[in-house]
Amino acid sequence: MADIESSVDLGVIGVGSLAEAIITGLCEEHGTAPSILLSPRSRSRSRAIASRYPSVRVAEDNQSVVHQSNVILLTMRPQDAAAALRDIVFSPGQAVISAMAGVPVARLCELAAPSSRLARVIPLPAVASRQGLTAIYPAGHEAQALFDRLGSTITVEDEEALEALSASTATIAAHFAYLATVSRWLTAQGIRKADAARYVAATFASLAETLSTPPADLMTLAEAYATTGGINEQFYTSLRNAGVFQAVERSLDQIAARLLRQQP
Ligand SMILES: NC(=O)c1ccc[n+]([C@@H]2O[C@H](COP(=O)([O-])OP(=O)(O)OC[C@H]3O[C@@H](n4cnc5c(N)ncnc54)[C@H](OP(=O)(O)O)[C@@H]3O)[C@@H](O)[C@H]2O)c1
Repeated sequence: MADIESSVDLGVIGVGSLAEAIITGLCEEHGTAPSILLSPRSRSRSRAIASRYPSVRVAEDNQSVVHQSNVILLTMRPQDAAAALRDIVFSPGQAVISAMAGVPVARLCELAAPSSRLARVIPLPAVASRQGLTAIYPAGHEAQALFDRLGSTITVEDEEALEALSASTATIAAHFAYLATVSRWLTAQGIRKADAARYVAATFASLAETLSTPPADLMTLAEAYATTGGINEQFYTSLRNAGVFQAVERSLDQIAARLLRQQP
């Protein structure tokens, strides 16, 4: 990386909500915050972040971000990648980390040529409070040390595994819609709307704590609650017989296929 001009720890291109969560996690960590250089695009957000943290600056342009930074984080939307990186020159061996969903390493190699030191990550918004579990491909990249600071990391053997983890995050909206359905049903039974929401939220928030140290097989949790002859077993069986869980698997297959097809 001899031709990198000066050594800012991290350069960020694509200063949106994910980038802000990552920078917040890094800069609010106890200890020394890394030096960070931001793309000037999304000016008001970049400036606001830089005014909050002394180790963060806004660059003149995207090329300056790449030229001055040891590690580059790409957090723009996949469809903006080609335009954002078209005229940008990277250094051979420069570490580049992409959070862009569905952009394979082979495509990143073209976008960030001549660097071939590329990694893909799937950060969760919880990186802002350093509680994110970030999926990374491949192992042994600078991305691992960076995201270990923001919680913990999980590395996978190949890109298909990374796409599968990415696909699994598509289930979040449906999860909340399920809780909303339970809450709506309670309201239909005469419970005040706010109380129904509070009750459902409290029930599932307390259950979420069980997941902080999950068993190797999550099905054991389902079995623990499905007391033989009880109402949990009846409800679970009813959904299973209706094909709900098969629909979940089928829909995940469709999401994974879509992610593998997408190439900006
Ligand atoms: N949000 C999450 O929790 C999450 C989790 C995992 C992965 N991701 C991935 O992370 C990426 C960003 O997601 P996001 O939610 O943070 O999106 P976002 O809020 O829309 O941020 C994307 C940013 O990229 C900027 N941008 C677009 N073109 C650019 C260019 N030529 N140069 C520099 N910056 C440019 C956008 O600026 P303008 O607004 O001015 O266009 C915007 O500020 C996506 O690829 C997504 O797949 C997100």
